[in-house]
Amino acid sequence: MDRKQPESVNSNLEGISELTERMAHIIRNLRTYARGEPVEARPTSLRVAIEEALNLLEVRFREEAVELDAKLPDKSIEVVGGTVRLQQVFVNLISNGIDAMQGCTQRQLSISVDDSEDKVFVKISDTGPGINEEDRANIFDPFFSTKKVGEGTGLGLSISYGIINQFGGQIETHNKEAGGAVFTVTLQRAGKKKAN
Ligand SMILES: Nc1ncnc2c1ncn2[C@@H]1O[C@H](COP(=O)(O)OP(=O)(O)OP(=O)(O)O)[C@@H](O)[C@H]1O
Ligand SMILES: [Mg+2]
Repeated sequence: MDRKQPESVNSNLEGISELTERMAHIIRNLRTYARGEPVEARPTSLRVAIEEALNLLEVRFREEAVELDAKLPDKSIEVVGGTVRLQQVFVNLISNGIDAMQGCTQRQLSISVDDSEDKVFVKISDTGPGINEEDRANIFDPFFSTKKVGEGTGLGLSISYGIINQFGGQIETHNKEAGGAVFTVTLQRAGKKKAN
């Protein structure tokens, strides 16, 4: 500011804000991992949890030019969970997708929700290289990461798996034929499904 260079002030602030978000991400996961305590599950709006996760990652979508294709149903879907925990899971899965697409020409992250059955399925997919076959068995292990030191702690998927398990759900993954990874989070509907 003193040197009258507003452009570099802007880019410095952007850098700081990105690093702060990165620190918050790591600290959130470390805290959840360290606490390791069971959490109470209650009816939670799926839309709110997904939208809050997307809000937290807005800067990354913009700066890394990732196209978002979110197909969320208009009606409210209540699942067994907790807003903060579910949001943490979605932040982890979406961040992984964005990370995986670094250096790819096509960068699209898709989110869809299927509540046509008794359970609710949330699919998060990307157009990155997909999960490496030799890593597949390890990706949900704590501290397993293929990222550079300082870029990944390897806690994201392990914590997400634990949280979803506590809510009586599941996380599964497969690679799309066209390339890219898909993570499917299965959650229990809170309350009975209404008759159509
Ligand atoms: N969408 C994806 N596409 C390709 N590989 C993935 C994807 N998601 C996860 N992985 C692989 O699984 C590994 C573990 O993911 P996890 O989220 O647990 O840790 P991380 O992303 O490396 O670090 P952290 O989440 O703690 O910042 C990643 O390092 C990566 O190799
Ligand atoms: Mg991760």
